[in-house]
Amino acid sequence: MAEAPKISIAELKTPVTGTLVVLTDENLDFGAAARAAMKPSGDLFQRVAKIEKFTGKRNKILSLAAPSGLKLEHLIVAGTGKSKEMKAEDWLKLGGAIAGRLPAGARNVTVLAQTPGGKLGADEAAQIALGIKLRAYKFDRYKTKKKSGEDDESKTPAADIRVAAEDVAGTKKAWVAAEAVGSGIVLARELVNEPPNVLFPVEFARRASELKKLGVQIEVLDEPAMKKLGMHALLAVGQGSERDSRLVVMRWNGAKKKSEAPVAIVGKGVCFDTGGISIKPAASMEDMKGDMAGAACVTGLMHALAARKAKTNVVGVIGLVENMPDGNSYRPGDILKSYSGQTIEVINTDAEGRLVLCDALAYTNERFKPKLIIDLATLTGAILVALGQEYAGLFSNDDKLAERLTEAGKVTGELVWRMPLAPYYDKMIDSKFADMKNTGGRFGGSITAAQFLQRYIGKTPWAHLDIAGTGMAAHNTEIGDSWGPGWGVRLLNEFIAAHYEK
Ligand code: BES
Ligand code: MN
Ligand code: ZN
Repeated sequence: MAEAPKISIAELKTPVTGTLVVLTDENLDFGAAARAAMKPSGDLFQRVAKIEKFTGKRNKILSLAAPSGLKLEHLIVAGTGKSKEMKAEDWLKLGGAIAGRLPAGARNVTVLAQTPGGKLGADEAAQIALGIKLRAYKFDRYKTKKKSGEDDESKTPAADIRVAAEDVAGTKKAWVAAEAVGSGIVLARELVNEPPNVLFPVEFARRASELKKLGVQIEVLDEPAMKKLGMHALLAVGQGSERDSRLVVMRWNGAKKKSEAPVAIVGKGVCFDTGGISIKPAASMEDMKGDMAGAACVTGLMHALAARKAKTNVVGVIGLVENMPDGNSYRPGDILKSYSGQTIEVINTDAEGRLVLCDALAYTNERFKPKLIIDLATLTGAILVALGQEYAGLFSNDDKLAERLTEAGKVTGELVWRMPLAPYYDKMIDSKFADMKNTGGRFGGSITAAQFLQRYIGKTPWAHLDIAGTGMAAHNTEIGDSWGPGWGVRLLNEFIAAHYEK
């Protein structure tokens, strides 16, 4: 990761040196602080705006170097469009758009977080700061020659960035929470971006164990421990790999009542998915390093909750394996006995995620008796066919839970789209030889995968998020160009904050 900028919250004073960022709207109006700062430059901005056809549209940036009359190196004007219509996610994106246009040499940057219309709330200002943090993230650890930022002006420089806000105390407080979430997202991104020779199950478990520093209780189950518990489905997936499998339990007990039933979040952590004996084609197989994005999200979320000391009990469980072809691999035709006691006929060793999850889910449900379970998994290529990379697939046995996740998706922009579950699809995974098969054929591939999982959660309110489209191989957005987007951390943080911290 590149050297990150230092972001702090400051008082709304107008600096006279360095780089100044001000906000404008579709009327090219400014807040009082910006107006005062720009006054010595006369009508410079209006003239440049006209020449450049800058009209204050949202996330459009006008950058003036050495603006005459001012002692600034750069004056940067960021458009908000109709600023009154801006929602939390829009302020986040605006922060990202600003960070993306900071000049490469900028060291001393002040963002005046004030709207033309007047006061900007603490949460909104903190979202701008979070957007800056996320946009500044770069995964360039393995580039020995060119570090991003040195040769490309669109890359955010390492700098001191002050977000100057009207409500300084409120914004500082909001930033503590937002920065915690930001660090959780960065952790999730790192985990997804890391190559599979570096991030294998034992190393992933070691990195998750570092959450101890934040007060998260960690348990790491090794293969003998999982064997003893009867997790033969999860273990079968990892048995062809030289790398040992692990199951990690992360507990954050922030509720007043320590005994209160937790919210449980379970993640698929296939550190590399070759498909196993049902081997995948070579094209794009390297992307399968991201097949642990569900587990990365769970780990990033636990980081976020602990770092902001969330007042709630949450347990995160991740199943970590590597799916490899080998003389000792599991085979199509094998019948596995899962932790729950149900038996599974393996049809395709590339449908491995559900085998990892079924043991993690059943174990989590039985041991923690959670009030609800949400799992995240890069589970099926079929969800990419159905929804592309914009929405994650949401499957749930509980309407209220589904609605709350959908709502949190709208607030954060991490969108989910509900898909069906029904007895018809469940039948498709009945097996001739065992209780079920691990695939249901070509049709409705994401649904039959979800039906499989549903057989392991009993009556507990449960939601499954298929993040094969959203969790990895992300395209560029205002909040970054990281291949691993850290998808789901903001979604689940919002879901928990909105409903389970009262
Ligand atoms: N990890 C893959 C799903 C995947 C595909 C994730 C593309 C991200 C991008 C999963 O383990 C898998 O291989 N699923 C199979 C299931 C099939 C064999 C029933 C698939 O989707 O083809
Ligand atoms: Mn697979
Ligand atoms: Zn997989």
